[in-house]
Amino acid sequence: MSTVSGSAEKVAVIVPAAGKGERLGPGAPKALRALGGSPLLVHAVRTLAAAPSVGLVMVAAPPDAAGVAEVQRLLADLPGDTRVVAGGASRQESVALALAALPAQYSMVLVHDAARALTPVDLVEAVAGAVRAGAPAVIPVLPVADTIKAVAGDLVTATVDRSSLRAVQTPQGFTRDLLAKAHAAADPHAPATDDAGLVEALGLPVRTVPGHAEAFKITTPFDLVLAEAVLRRRR
Ligand code: C5P
Repeated sequence: MSTVSGSAEKVAVIVPAAGKGERLGPGAPKALRALGGSPLLVHAVRTLAAAPSVGLVMVAAPPDAAGVAEVQRLLADLPGDTRVVAGGASRQESVALALAALPAQYSMVLVHDAARALTPVDLVEAVAGAVRAGAPAVIPVLPVADTIKAVAGDLVTATVDRSSLRAVQTPQGFTRDLLAKAHAAADPHAPATDDAGLVEALGLPVRTVPGHAEAFKITTPFDLVLAEAVLRRRR
């Protein structure tokens, strides 16, 4: 295990939070929507900052001046080293911009969606631990409960074998060199929906670890209802 000053090496976490979140309906950017009285982003960053492996949280904010200022204001009172950069037009671009702004001392990076606001600390630690143990790319996954079919218009074209499918969550963890290489090779006109996809495009292996039901992405109004219920149970 590599060390910094005798303790386990810390990771930096990039939080893409620049999305509009249109599937949640009209209103503030998704990361700034309220859950239990605090924005989704604040829940996510609070958890990350509390994770023993995390040394820095770098948030990609909605790219306009108001978005950056608002995120700076929200994070000002949180513990730990949290910083803000302006995000981009796609999630991929937001991650690349945050990656470019990371201090040189960090050789391991996690990428975590702000919308996965209730992700437990244990999952953050599991992903960071797997990268620290030598896996260059790590993703949390869950088995798929539903039967999945391919369609063309309203017609089914195939039933996909569910046993080999996994739903993919964040945080995803990488060595910094690999994540930088994957983003440098990425096509800006066909942005990937996750960072591991860019590593796969290089033909390099991605390791999985067990995900967590509470790391679900808050995308629709129903997800917000679910998240409120999870939060109430925790409190
Ligand atoms: O749209 P989707 O749910 O896939 O977004 C995943 C994450 O990427 C969200 O946290 C969102 O804020 C972020 N994102 C971003 N920059 C964009 C679009 C999405 O940081 N331009």
